[in-house]
Amino acid sequence: MSDAPVRARHLVLVGLMGAGKTTVGQRCAELLGRAFLDTDELVEANARMGVADIFQHHGEQQFRVLERDAVEDACASPDPLVIACGGGAVLDPENRRRLRSCGLVVWLRASPAVLGARVGTGDDRPLLAAPRQPAITTLERLSAQREPAYEGVAHVQVDTEGSSVDEVAAAVVQEYESWNE
Ligand code: S3P
Repeated sequence: MSDAPVRARHLVLVGLMGAGKTTVGQRCAELLGRAFLDTDELVEANARMGVADIFQHHGEQQFRVLERDAVEDACASPDPLVIACGGGAVLDPENRRRLRSCGLVVWLRASPAVLGARVGTGDDRPLLAAPRQPAITTLERLSAQREPAYEGVAHVQVDTEGSSVDEVAAAVVQEYESWNE
């Protein structure tokens, strides 16, 4: 996999559901004085439908097609952004290639137990709501399945356990700034 450009344009956050990509990403965007973009929100705006409805009416495969378009559009933005990716966006090799070459990719990490506590019942997340299993069981499975993809796409890993949103955002911004020094 190719390295990031010498100067990373976008700041890209990846990680499992509950990692804090949206909350931390919004805070990073404030700190950096730039716009924040969430690929799930872009998918929803383009489809004029919520993620859960897309899964229910069109299936996960169709969601992934829309998600690939959203990742492509986000990466192509001429303005530097903070981009939060849906947890499964990294499963697609083309997404991984695009994300890695358009900016600094930061993997927000936490154990399945902590992620499970953060997402609660997960009813707005189809992958957690549908199987009617405890969220932690699904998150343990997804964590094992996706670890190689996160590892492959990320330039930097940041542990989020036991830290506040502000602390994690400050650590991420520091990584981004030192990358671009
Ligand atoms: C998904 C994560 C969700 C959303 C969709 C699928 C996944 O985004 O894209 O429900 O496959 O992990 P968040 O990670 O922002 O919850």
